[in-house]
Amino acid sequence: MNILILGGGGREHALAWAVLQNPKCDKLIVAPGNAGIAAIADCADLDILNGAAVVNFCEENAIDFVIVGPEAPLAAGVADRLRDAGFLVFGPSEEAAKLEASKSFTKEICDAAKAPTAGYGHFTDAEAAKAYIREQGAPIVVKADGLAAGKGVIVAMDEDTALAAIDDMFGGEFGSAGAEVVIEEFMEGEEASYFILVDGETCLPIGTAQDHKRVGEGDTGLNTGGMGAYSPAPVLSDEIAEKAMEEIIKPTMKAMVDRGTPYQGVLYAGLMIKDGQPRLVEYNVRFGDPECQVLMLRLGAQALDLMQACAEGRLADAQVNWADDHAMTVVMAAKGYPGDYVKGSVIKGLDTLPETSSEMCFHAGTGEKDGQIIATGGRVLNVTARGATLKEAADRAYAMVDRIDWPEGFCRRDIGWRAL
Ligand code: AMP
Ligand code: GLY
Repeated sequence: MNILILGGGGREHALAWAVLQNPKCDKLIVAPGNAGIAAIADCADLDILNGAAVVNFCEENAIDFVIVGPEAPLAAGVADRLRDAGFLVFGPSEEAAKLEASKSFTKEICDAAKAPTAGYGHFTDAEAAKAYIREQGAPIVVKADGLAAGKGVIVAMDEDTALAAIDDMFGGEFGSAGAEVVIEEFMEGEEASYFILVDGETCLPIGTAQDHKRVGEGDTGLNTGGMGAYSPAPVLSDEIAEKAMEEIIKPTMKAMVDRGTPYQGVLYAGLMIKDGQPRLVEYNVRFGDPECQVLMLRLGAQALDLMQACAEGRLADAQVNWADDHAMTVVMAAKGYPGDYVKGSVIKGLDTLPETSSEMCFHAGTGEKDGQIIATGGRVLNVTARGATLKEAADRAYAMVDRIDWPEGFCRRDIGWRAL
């Protein structure tokens, strides 16, 4: 089977690594890829937001199966163009990708499905939005409706911050994503992520994870794309996961079928858990990054079989074979991230790291220059390990971190602290 993966971050390196464990994979191309991916697969320079260009590329390279990593191509309808051209694709249609691309759409689907989530108002007018905030009071959460690269959510602990967020969003700070806002009730509790494969009809859970969004130790400082993650997430016990499946996931997936836009791909449910009750914070229509890295390390070769079964509508007969293990990934970022950071610093010591089925250093923002690996992004490496316990996974991951010689990089030393 010839496979194309779209994307070029740590998530796609982990997907590529897992796909290559499976003997079914004859050829793997990743577009655009990165320096770590280039060491294990062919990388192609391709505009992955251009459906026609991706279809052309698949025809020229005899691709049998396309796995879409990030949300942007999905929201741009690339999966639709590929399916129209007869290709097998893992990833939802543009209409179904609205579960991530539009917060108000997701709230309407939750209403239709009676799924537990935060109460909300949806506004296209700044004055009406402000009146709602004054009426509800703080804490309150203001969200730009569209995709905003993880920066469109303001959790306001006081009313002034919420009102200022409205001015920013209607003032164009978030581009067209802010022309509409959703204002939500503030939910207390502990957050966890639940990953489910959906083939339109059948929902198959493939794991739980928790990530660390803040840049600083003890979960302090600015928000980031994620500084580390671990799986499983103990807060999402079997009982609570089952509740989330029956009360949230299945009803919303049925609502998608009922409106004629069934969902196909991985569904990433962000849940808030309090007193044993899960509520939906958000849906994403892709794997989390870096959560994918821990899930792929735990799943290994079967990940390809599962994604293929999902794309072919065969999940009813599929099953996940779980090792009773734990995985952790530690993100190494360029100093200064998530603010300004320097690009181009050289990373050494990567060739001394173990590369086994239990230990992998996935690359996110890396490139190659004069035979050396250099940092090209904010989040740069995802040092990932698994073990019989979370402690063992953490010890292995940090032992790898300590072998990496990159003075311009940093990581958090407390990934997994809640569970440890
Ligand atoms: P989102 O992009 O919707 O996941 O929001 C980003 C983060 O904001 C979430 O991971 C939560 O930590 C927080 N958040 C979003 N909505 C709420 C809410 N209604 N109550 C409390 N925290 C929230
Ligand atoms: N790690 C959070 C995300 O992928 O959205």
